[in-house]
This record gives sequence, C-alpha cells and structure tokens, in this order.
Amino acid sequence: MDTGIYRSRLNKRLEKKAAGFLSSIDVDEEIFEEDIDGTQAHNIMLYEQGIIKKEDLKKILAALENIRNLKRAGKLKLDMNYEDVHEFLEAQVLRELGYEVGGKLHTGRSRNDQVALDVRMKLRSKLNSLSSALLSLVRELQICAKANLDTLMVLYTHTQHAQIGLFSHYLLAYGDVLLRDFERIEDCYRRVNLSPLGASAIGGSTFNLNRLRTAELLGFDGIVENSIDAVSSRDFAQEAAGAVALLMVNLSRIAEDFVIWSSSEFNYLELHDAYASPSSVMPHKKNPCSLELIKAKAGLTLGTLTNMLATVKGVPTGYSRDLQETKAPLWLCLREAESALEVLTGIVRSLKVNRKRMREVAMESHASAVNLAEGLVKETGLSFRQAHMLVGRLVKETVNKGLKLTDLNPKALAKLSKEILGKKIEISENLFTKLVNPKLFPKRLSTLGSSNPEEIKRMLKSQEAKLVELKKRLMLRLKKIEKAEERLRKTVKAYLAAD
Ligand code: ARG
Repeated sequence: MDTGIYRSRLNKRLEKKAAGFLSSIDVDEEIFEEDIDGTQAHNIMLYEQGIIKKEDLKKILAALENIRNLKRAGKLKLDMNYEDVHEFLEAQVLRELGYEVGGKLHTGRSRNDQVALDVRMKLRSKLNSLSSALLSLVRELQICAKANLDTLMVLYTHTQHAQIGLFSHYLLAYGDVLLRDFERIEDCYRRVNLSPLGASAIGGSTFNLNRLRTAELLGFDGIVENSIDAVSSRDFAQEAAGAVALLMVNLSRIAEDFVIWSSSEFNYLELHDAYASPSSVMPHKKNPCSLELIKAKAGLTLGTLTNMLATVKGVPTGYSRDLQETKAPLWLCLREAESALEVLTGIVRSLKVNRKRMREVAMESHASAVNLAEGLVKETGLSFRQAHMLVGRLVKETVNKGLKLTDLNPKALAKLSKEILGKKIEISENLFTKLVNPKLFPKRLSTLGSSNPEEIKRMLKSQEAKLVELKKRLMLRLKKIEKAEERLRKTVKAYLAAD
C-alpha cells in the first residue's frame, strides 16, 4: 500500500474510520485534472530553475500523463484510503517511478499551496461557465422583451396594483440585475485568478522557485504575493459563493413572480409543458415545480455561503484542515446555480405570455390613479397633495359603486373637488379620458428608465450593446485560459519528445 507516503513520523496508519472522516478524496474529483496540470507546471519550473534534472522531469511528466489518461478512460478510481487527491497522485507517481525520481515531484511545494492552486483553477473555470450561462439568460429576457415591447401590464408594489407599465420593462429590469451579477462575478474573478503556488506550507521555500513562471504556465493574471496570505485565505472562494448567493436570490425573485403569474387567478403566464410537473392525484394539475426548486436552491446557496463563512471564521492564520471543508459547499453552490440558470433560460425561452389577460387586468385597474393626480397638478395648478387627496376620494367612491375610473367623467371630479378642496376643478372630457385610460399611461411617462415605450426601446438597445461587450470580455478570459492550457500541453509534449 502507498497510503503511508507522508507518515514516517507516525507509527501507525490512519485508523479506518478516521481515514474516511478526514479524507477529501470524493470532493477532490473536481480538482483531479487541475492537480495534474499544477504539478506538471511546478515540475517544469523546477527543471527550468535547475532544481531537478531533465530526465527526471520527463519521467514525472510522462507518469502524470499516464495517470491522467487512465483516469479519463475510467481505469483509475480515486481511493478513499488516501487523505486527498494530492496524496493519491503523488503515491501513483511514486509507485510508477520509485522514490528516487518520483520523490522529486513535490520539491518546494506543500499541499497547502497546492490545494489553494487547484481550487482557484477550478473555480475560475466554473465562474466562467456560470457567467456564460448568465449571459444566455439575459439574452432570452431581451428576446422576450422584444416580443412584448407594448404588452401592457400592471406593475405591483406590496403585491397590489401600483402603476400601469409594460411587461418588457419588467424583463429588462432583470436583464440589468443579472448583468450586475455578471459584473460582480467578473470582479471576483480578478481576485480568484491569482496563483498561490510557491508559497509552500506558509513561509515560502529555500528552493529558488520561480513563482511568476508557474503562474504564467497556468494562465493566471498574477500571484497571491504574500505566502501567508496565499495559503491561509479563502476569501476568494467565499466571495464567489457570495456572488452566487446574490445571483440565486435574484433568480428566486423571478421564479416567485412567475409562480404567482402562472396561477389560475393571474393567468399572465403559462410555462411550457416541458418545464411543468403533474400531480399524482389531481389530473388537471400543471405545477411550476422547476420554478419552486429555483427558489429552494437559492436557499441552499445561502446555506453554502454561511457554511463557508462559518468554517473559516475560527481558523487561525495559516492552513488548518478546517479549510478543506470550504470545497464541497463551493462546488455545490456553483453546480446548483448553473443548473438554475439553464432551467430558467429554457423557461423564459418557451414561456407563453398571455398578453390579452395582462392587458385586461391593466384596463380594469385603478393603477392609473397616479397618472390622474399628476395630470391634475400639471393642468390645474393643484398641489400634489391636494390632487392625491382628490383622486384618493374619487377612487374610493368609484370602488364603492363597483365602477372603474374609466367609467367616470370630469363632472364627478368637479363635484368632489368642490366638496373636499372648496374649489371646483374642471377639466375637459377629453383630458379626463386621457388621464384615466390605462392604455395611455406608459406613453405619458417622461422619466429616464420609465415604462415609456420609447424608453423601453432605448434601454433594450443599450442593454443589448452591454451584453455584447460583456460577452467579449468573457471570451477574452476564456481565450487566455485556453491558450495557457494549450501552451502547457505543448510544453509537456515537447519535454516528453526531447532527448
Ligand atoms: N485535503 C486538503 C484540503 O483539501 C489538502 C491540504 C492538506 N494540507 C495539509 N497540511 N494537511 O484542504
């Protein structure tokens, strides 16, 4: 057995239960390839610095390639008898090359900088694919907004009718929200994509390691300079989990809106059958289970963030094994967030928008009351509070009579104003109709960012341009990593082929 490669100081092998308890090998499936790439880059640098010989480097690189291929072919399983992927891999190399040559692979390195390296490498690629999924959702929201540029709907506050607006306005709002999530992740990425390698256990190494070279070989933007920081810190991962939690909270609110709006009472939206679930007993049911799960998974990501923060808060500076426990919640929240994004993208893409129903509700609504009040201020010189009072009373009487504002005429306004303001407010029939007609409300809006159809078109255009720009930035990040991977592969191949 190779399981004892680090244990010369200890008399006994790890007790079986303890081994299972402290091994991170299952969670380390995620960083298997990163560990190989990191080890290859480290050894290339060791050779370039004159620390190991070329023939040893070649053997080490070949052994690592062999292990990679066996694993990819399903012929090698990570074994729970090892503490982690780092011990597992080194043990495999030692088995193949022996201690004389294989034993050089870990020169000037500790599992502390090694694991931080692997997690940063995996995290950056997961953040990139999450970002790409995020942009796909934003694009679907924009497409849906385009198809609903003039779809009238009630906008809600306190889940009560607030103002009349457009469904496209709502969709673009979430486009903006999600682009902020994208930028938050992008900002976090800058702090993730730094190499901790070369920090060794905590204080650095007496070997003349070239930290910048390994950082370059692995596609990092720079290094985490201070070696204590490099091995101790997990704020890069907590920050990523924080950005993911925020993103999920945002998705959860969309999901909640869609759940409400697809109820029989609202009937604004209908999910495509492919995203709905039936009931085992009620044959008529079409349940929005995927949306409900997005909300529940948002809860999960709050848990994973809390888990990571709580794990790290009591860890004394330096590496302690507690830090191992930040990996599982990190992978979990990223996995769930990416699935949630993909599912929601499909839901939006296939969403049936019941424009007629949205419009009917808007037309029946009293939500143009604020339009009437603002109109009275502009047309009659009433103060806003007076206009508010007057319209409030008008609505009250209208509701009591089971009518809508559009059923009234300016005479009712004149009568009521005399009664409560002591002066008769008279406006033309034409103006009154304009001010209470929900259909005309959006066009009367004149502020930046409002539901005015012209504003919607402008915002859509600028959001589309922003999406293109952000996609370009993401592509650059991806290209840089891809190029580094290619370069590393080529460098490895060149060494393997060299005499
Ligand atoms: N399995 C460990 C982790 O995931 C790797 C680092 C172990 N370092 C150590 N000094 N025991 O964090």
